[in-house]
Amino acid sequence: MFQEARKYQAFYTKSTPIVDYMVQNLSLKSDDRILEPCGGDGVFVESIIDKNEYAYVDIYELNEKSIKILNKKFSYLPNVRIKHSDTLLDEELIFNSSFGGIYDKIIANPPYGAWQDYEKRDVLKKLFPNIYTKETYGLFLYRSIELLRDKGLLTFIIPDTYLNLHMHKALRKHILKKTKIKELALFPSSFFPGVNFGYANLSIITLEKCFNQKECLNNNFKIINGFKNVEQLSDINSETDLNIKIYHQKDIYTNPDHAFLISDNFEIINAINNSKLKIGEIASCVTGFYSGDDKTFLQVSNTDLKNAKNYNIVNPNSINRDYQNISNLLDGINGTKHFIPIVKGGNVKYLKSEGWFMNWSKEAVKHYKTDKKARFQNPQFYFKFGIGVPMISSSSITASLIEYKLFDQSIVGIFPKDESLTYYLLAFFNSPTCNKFIRTINPSANNPANYIKKIPFIIPEKHVLNLINQKTSEILNSIKQLGGYNDDTEREIWSIIEEIYQID
Ligand SMILES: C[S@@+](CC[C@H](N)C(=O)[O-])C[C@H]1O[C@@H](n2cnc3c(N)ncnc32)[C@H](O)[C@@H]1O
Repeated sequence: MFQEARKYQAFYTKSTPIVDYMVQNLSLKSDDRILEPCGGDGVFVESIIDKNEYAYVDIYELNEKSIKILNKKFSYLPNVRIKHSDTLLDEELIFNSSFGGIYDKIIANPPYGAWQDYEKRDVLKKLFPNIYTKETYGLFLYRSIELLRDKGLLTFIIPDTYLNLHMHKALRKHILKKTKIKELALFPSSFFPGVNFGYANLSIITLEKCFNQKECLNNNFKIINGFKNVEQLSDINSETDLNIKIYHQKDIYTNPDHAFLISDNFEIINAINNSKLKIGEIASCVTGFYSGDDKTFLQVSNTDLKNAKNYNIVNPNSINRDYQNISNLLDGINGTKHFIPIVKGGNVKYLKSEGWFMNWSKEAVKHYKTDKKARFQNPQFYFKFGIGVPMISSSSITASLIEYKLFDQSIVGIFPKDESLTYYLLAFFNSPTCNKFIRTINPSANNPANYIKKIPFIIPEKHVLNLINQKTSEILNSIKQLGGYNDDTEREIWSIIEEIYQID
């Protein structure tokens, strides 16, 4: 069953407050023509029929089992049409999208990231030329917007990644120019029974199709967040502790990449909009290595380390301390001394103590290069001098040095083109200023490379750069010698960085 759920991404909307909120946003009328493009077992249609037994509803669904359930539930209703078809490829829907749309209302919980075979991906790329085809929900949203008639309403529950991620830029543009957003509710994915996406929050977006682009850009809409529980969706207007803010669609449109920068801090937004240089331009930001089977290949110096219980203890004699001098290191090491240090995730500032070692024998490396699960990615950056930022931050973003070591895939390695900027970058990534930027660019606790690349970067004057370098060295030396550092030194660095960016 789980396999089946993965294939079709059949996670159903079994939450009354979510269903009620979405159906209410459709402002249903008795003669509406309604589309449910991913029927599942019909929770939305049930709720719609509850309110109006004679509603005209077209349901599309790809999975035969769901079709049977839908038929059982709704085939007695003459106005409900159930079609066993692929919403993204269906000829009738393609035809109706190309003539300005026919539906008054569309409601969906589309599949997120559903697996598509390569043949289908190629077809989808042709049908949706600018849209990111690997993430299915964007395709469903795009197609559904096309299927709405002028002034038609749509409500979708989908991950919030389309608001900021670079690959969804074309989708954002489409939304902003072809629709008036009515309301955007943002909440943790844990509100959704049975699924916790971990990497993303969920959003319910409600929008109105509008043929007049000027009107679209002049539209104001509400973003609601700060939800503590799912029940608060039932009556948003009387909930006093929710965070409700109005945004102008044109402002979002003029942001870089049309990103929904929804932070309170205008100084931060201005800096992001007006910065001449971004981290992605001065440094390579890359994800690290994965063995494919860490239990077999990764060892630890001490099982008291965090999450180290299930790993074997490394034999100190098998650790290679001279690996940097080995030629063709990317092909592995001959002999018994073939374990090398690796920097892993975990939020530690400035410098991580050594504890984890990867098997780097010739055979192991061959495995990493050929195994399907392994990720021998960005090897040109292995064993280089740079900094590592964990993909997930517990609270604030942190960074630590990667001193000519391997780094794993839970880390984004940042390698400045000009190596003399490394300490300054290390100081910057551990500063509250950088944290404000990354959390504005992406409000969740994730820091993938694509977000990091968008952070504004300012190179200070030489004497300021030297001062920061000197103070960062003090911190690093103190960690090496004493195991800790003086908070005052760090605070001095932070206030210098605030001055550089003119943000407090
Ligand atoms: C996330 S479920 C949601 C179902 C239902 N709307 C709900 O909210 O409970 C997505 C549904 O879309 C169906 N589906 C997946 N890909 C599809 C496609 N290309 N065309 C039509 N339906 C599809 C799946 O079988 C699944 O039932």
